[in-house]
Amino acid sequence: MTAKFSESDCQPVSLSSASEDDATWTHLVQSSVPGLGFLFEVTGKPWTAWVGVLGLVFAATIAGLLGFGGGMHHKYENENGNYNYYADFLGRSGTTASTSGSSNNCPSSAAATEIIAPDTFYSHSPSACTSSSLTSTCANPLNILSASSLSSSPAGMIMAAPSPSLDAALRVAREFDLPSDQAQRGVDEFLSQMAEGLAKNGTTLSQIPTYVTSVPNGTEKGLYLAVDLGGTNFRVCSINLKGDSTFDLTQNKVAIPRDMMVAPSYKQLFKFLATQIEAFLEEHHNEHFEATVRRRRLTGTTDQYRREEIFDLGFTFSFPVHQTSINRGTLIRWTKGFDIPDAVGKDVCLMLQDAINELHLPVRVAALVNDTVGTLMARSYTSPGKTETLLGAIFGTGTNGAYVEKLDKVTKLDVKNDRTIDHTKNQMVINTEWGSFDNHLSVLPNTIYDQQLDAESVNPGIQMFEKRVSGMFLGEILRRAVLALTKDSEAKLLQTEGNLIPSDSPLYEIWGIDTSFLSIIEADTTSDLTATKAALFEHFKVSNATTDDAQAIKAIGHAIAKRAARLSGIALAAILLDTKRIDTDETVDIGVDGSLVEFYPKFVDYMREAMREIKGIGEKESKVRIGIAKDGSGVGAALIALVAHKEYAIGQR
Ligand code: BGC
Repeated sequence: MTAKFSESDCQPVSLSSASEDDATWTHLVQSSVPGLGFLFEVTGKPWTAWVGVLGLVFAATIAGLLGFGGGMHHKYENENGNYNYYADFLGRSGTTASTSGSSNNCPSSAAATEIIAPDTFYSHSPSACTSSSLTSTCANPLNILSASSLSSSPAGMIMAAPSPSLDAALRVAREFDLPSDQAQRGVDEFLSQMAEGLAKNGTTLSQIPTYVTSVPNGTEKGLYLAVDLGGTNFRVCSINLKGDSTFDLTQNKVAIPRDMMVAPSYKQLFKFLATQIEAFLEEHHNEHFEATVRRRRLTGTTDQYRREEIFDLGFTFSFPVHQTSINRGTLIRWTKGFDIPDAVGKDVCLMLQDAINELHLPVRVAALVNDTVGTLMARSYTSPGKTETLLGAIFGTGTNGAYVEKLDKVTKLDVKNDRTIDHTKNQMVINTEWGSFDNHLSVLPNTIYDQQLDAESVNPGIQMFEKRVSGMFLGEILRRAVLALTKDSEAKLLQTEGNLIPSDSPLYEIWGIDTSFLSIIEADTTSDLTATKAALFEHFKVSNATTDDAQAIKAIGHAIAKRAARLSGIALAAILLDTKRIDTDETVDIGVDGSLVEFYPKFVDYMREAMREIKGIGEKESKVRIGIAKDGSGVGAALIALVAHKEYAIGQR
């Protein structure tokens, strides 16, 4: 068995493999200090193992004090036949541990952890283990993080012998590694696609001008309606902006029925939306509803509403739109599983306004907003201090970002002659539509599972970044990888004790596995992965999964999500570099929203880790403040409706 340390500057060490059918408890120790090499094995009851451990601690400590670095390896087997391997480094700061002729520095007293299979690693989550030393205790001895996560896990590490399923799963997991050099190439390409998108239309990164030229400062006031058509839900809200960075929000939320997403005509979808607005007004603004809508219906009046009776509504429409003014924009394409061809090329505000008018509601669609723009606005309204937010980003069902760009860089607009643009601040919010970054796959990773998913999606070849990053797709990537291993005659995932997968398992259905499954298993820190097994029952209908199965699935899920987070870091890093705000500002504020950032443990940490690896960012990453902009799209839409209302009022005078 070959073991490697994840610390990039530690050398590989060899572990002697012990027979799998050793007695109940076996302790095997090997030092990797050249010349010191000793090896002993204690076989028998657990206490004898610990005697061995203590002896070893003593010997290794002496070695450390004398200036030798020492790599110690320990294997334990418990009554259930499970193996745990420990590899600890002891020694003074900066001492050298070496096994293969060359030498490298290993972190001082890092209890380097690992390893299971040839050329693969796994470790505890650092938080699950108490510090270094041979007696380190881990609440979660089998919490697999993956090879590349080891560098962030300097404390106590553990190893267990791989089962064939785990072994195979770790191999699959490694296909999702995104090394630093690939991340760097990603940022370089993102920067060049950003520039191209600002210069012309029809590029892969759309860089859509939003006509929003300033961000709020928290003093805005008023009552506005907002609706939010995202990937999964439709929300109707009324927002009372209080002018002191706070707001009250009332909302109704409904899941968008699947058949609406692929309705034969846009009319069905927009009628459904207008009906939800009507129900909301009736429920939450009943007095107003009675005084306006009901009165007119009862009397059969078709009089126009008076201006003061009309609600201004901000429409958050989370799909790519070619925007031509603050409340005009045509749909470029559907994403996130929607597919209603006759809507493409039509003005989304008009489609909604027509449906609202059919129901005679006192509502004017005043502003059109992408959810990322809403997030940016909401974060800027609520964020602490005077810092203006640079970027609003969504990592939910879909992914995208909108940022504040210098107006004179948006060369595809006729900025000088366009009288609808406010030039005062020489800036405009740009909706990148980064879900379509690198559709031609010049830098994005492309595993077999990515390829299969894309081929069977409603929009092959499109939204290639989104298909590797966002919540709509991660569960499906995992499903495909797991399914492949269940069919593999060597890996035998979920097959060791007979086929554990019922024929009606969502594992057999495209889009059957929700990304929330990945968050649940990642958060599982129980030693026998109880929560993962329960989630396997709930999401896969698989009961009696073994701990090996659970570990294998957890390892793959972790790798898929970590890749997604690191890819997200590429987008953020590129925007920090493009705008140069990382060099000029004390603090760079970013607002985020979406289920992945909210619920996936460490998503933001992995994103930050990737950003730090990028040239020009490095340590400056610590200047970046990332905050959740909860309800961002609703509040943001209200804020833009407010701006639009002011402009409209001026126009009416
Ligand atoms: C859409 C974007 C949206 C993002 C997040 C993507 O699929 O194209 O417009 O901002 O999802 O909801």
